[in-house]
Order: sequence, then C-alpha cells, then structure tokens
Amino acid sequence: MDFFDIVEKRRSIRSFKDKQIEKEKLDKILNAAYLAPSAGNLQARKILVITKPEEKKQLCEASLGQNCLKEAPVILVFFAIPKESEQKFGARGRELYAMQDATIACTFANLAATALGLASVWVGAFHEDSIIKALSAPVDCVPVAMLPIGYANEKPKERSRKNWEDIFVKEKFE
Ligand SMILES: Cc1cc2nc3c(=O)[nH]c(=O)nc-3n(C[C@H](O)[C@H](O)[C@H](O)COP(=O)(O)O)c2cc1C
Repeated sequence: MDFFDIVEKRRSIRSFKDKQIEKEKLDKILNAAYLAPSAGNLQARKILVITKPEEKKQLCEASLGQNCLKEAPVILVFFAIPKESEQKFGARGRELYAMQDATIACTFANLAATALGLASVWVGAFHEDSIIKALSAPVDCVPVAMLPIGYANEKPKERSRKNWEDIFVKEKFE
C-alpha cells in the first residue's frame, strides 16, 4: 500500500478478533511512533504497551466501558510530559506542544497499524485519573490518547465527513 492508500484505508475499528499481533508488526508500529516529530525534538511523551488482561479491564472501565479496550491484544497508551516541554517553551510547551508530541505519535502508530493490515481506533474518552491510577503513571505524565490495536472483527461504518468547502478555506477567513 502506498501512503495515500493507507490514508484511505484507515478507519476506526472497535471490535477485534481473538488473535495476537505478530511481534515484528508491533515493533514496526512502535518504531513509527518513536520516529514521529516533536516540538524542539524534545519528544515530551511516554508510550505504554499494554497486553495484560487485568490492565486492559481497568482501561476499559476508565473509558466508559469501551469494550474495544478489553478485546484488543495490544493497547498503546500515549502520555504527554508537559513539564519537559515547558522547560524550553514555557506555557505553550506545557499546554500545547507536549500534547501534540504525544498525539502525533499516536497518529503515526494509527497509520502504521493500517499499513500492516491491522485495525485500531483512537480512544480519547476516558477519566484521566483512573488511567493514571491503573498504570501507576508518574505525576508529570498526562494520558492523552489510547490506541487499541488488533485484527478487525467488523467492517467500518460508511465514512462521513463535512463538505470539503466547510473544512478548507481559501486565502483567509472572511
Ligand atoms: C481525539 C479523538 C478522540 C476519539 N475518541 C474516541 C473514543 O473515545 N471512542 C471511539 O470509539 N472513537 C474515538 N475516536 C474515533 C472517532 O470517533 C473517529 O475517528 C471518527 O468517528 C471518524 O471515523 P474514522 O476514524 O473511521 O474515519 C476519537 C478520535 C479522535 C481523533
């Protein structure tokens, strides 16, 4: 698949087969996240790889019971480290760049999973405190996204998007 096919193919999948991900595939996904850009190359992020059923159950409970978190063989949890980015960029680093450092890594992992024939869904609806507690995260780490990954057990819904002209603005806002 070339890059544009991957972009077309990527869809949110919320049901996974009871099948493990090959280690080589997981390593490629992690490497994609590892190589994602970051503000000032600070890489103000941590990425946890979750495979144990007990932790998955807790992540599911912390995420309004989203079952995809229990079903997926692997969950990547993306944390921002605002303090690291703040040291160089002040409030903008703390409030924005660290979040972006973490979420762009999630984006790269999301696309890499698709490229490898795997399915995933970005999960953002969760109680931060419960995730921190479940994973014993240090105080300076903020969970910003999770990515359950596995083999799809459902077909994606029909794609829905706003109109092109509602997204792209020529020159400047009127
Ligand atoms: C920041 C963000 C948070 C999201 N949170 C959730 C979530 O908690 N649960 C879920 O099922 N999907 C979640 N999604 C996936 C969106 O629902 C999905 O991307 C959107 O419906 C478009 O569908 P598509 O990804 O198949 O193109 C999230 C996506 C993003 C970017």
